[in-house]
Amino acid sequence: MLYPELFKQLEAVRWNMERDIPWDRFDASKLSDEQAHTIKMNAITEWAALPATEMFLRDNRDDSDFSAFMSVWFFEEQKHSLVLMEYLRRFRPELVPTEQELHEVRFEFDPAPALETLMLHFCGEIRLNHWYRRAAQWHTEPVIQAIYETLARDEARHGGAYLRYMKRAIARFGDEAKAAFAKVGVLMASARRTAQALHPTNLHVNAKLYPRDTVQSRLPNPEWLERWLDQQIKFDATWENKVVERILHNLSLLMDRSFKSVQELNRFRKELSARLAAATRPGGEAPQPAGA
Ligand SMILES: [Fe+2]
Ligand SMILES: [Fe+2]
Repeated sequence: MLYPELFKQLEAVRWNMERDIPWDRFDASKLSDEQAHTIKMNAITEWAALPATEMFLRDNRDDSDFSAFMSVWFFEEQKHSLVLMEYLRRFRPELVPTEQELHEVRFEFDPAPALETLMLHFCGEIRLNHWYRRAAQWHTEPVIQAIYETLARDEARHGGAYLRYMKRAIARFGDEAKAAFAKVGVLMASARRTAQALHPTNLHVNAKLYPRDTVQSRLPNPEWLERWLDQQIKFDATWENKVVERILHNLSLLMDRSFKSVQELNRFRKELSARLAAATRPGGEAPQPAGA
């Protein structure tokens, strides 16, 4: 079980909302209306950990270890939403999200393959870590800068925890897990080639509710994310490449094979699909034991 160890590790570095955020350094002259508004949108987006947790628990009913870890992840993500709301409550109370605005992002996600979802969220944490680091640079008000830096570190640690579960999945399921991770890795590392920001909160997750089936589409300003990335925090090609490099680097370590580009990862994905197809064909080679 990974949960006891992850609990201990995350507990040891946990920050305190009252003591570890430098609230007394607030400088009202350094916070614009435009900046304050993006904090509200991020607070609501973080609240979407609630439907994501409901999805994780539903799709991982056979995995009590991972489900127990969800208690830590869920707590920390809700705390992210809360600290952003606390900032607004103190300094821009008119922008605190209403309960209804928060509740809007709670909707059911269609069931999805657990291994793909795990990889999707691993990539999402890496991406969010980079977005928040950029947000900390774009903001000029010291307290919110410190908050975004704090959240960025949490997101990186979440990515690390998911990586442990991915490693465990490869030991258990072998090529099946590798194929799922490579498939989602290719998709999530290809953001420059798609028009839209690739984060779990920006993907369609309920066919019946389409097109209002992304977290972003249910925000008071569904168009804010693209503007935040392109015009405000200016998440450009250099930053996007950092995300891709992190994903490829971690997958290289995980699969014990070097991927220098998304194309290389895609070739590996195709090799795996061919190997899995051969193994399941009648008369084909026997399925490899997990971990082989
Ligand atoms: Fe978060
Ligand atoms: Fe996170």
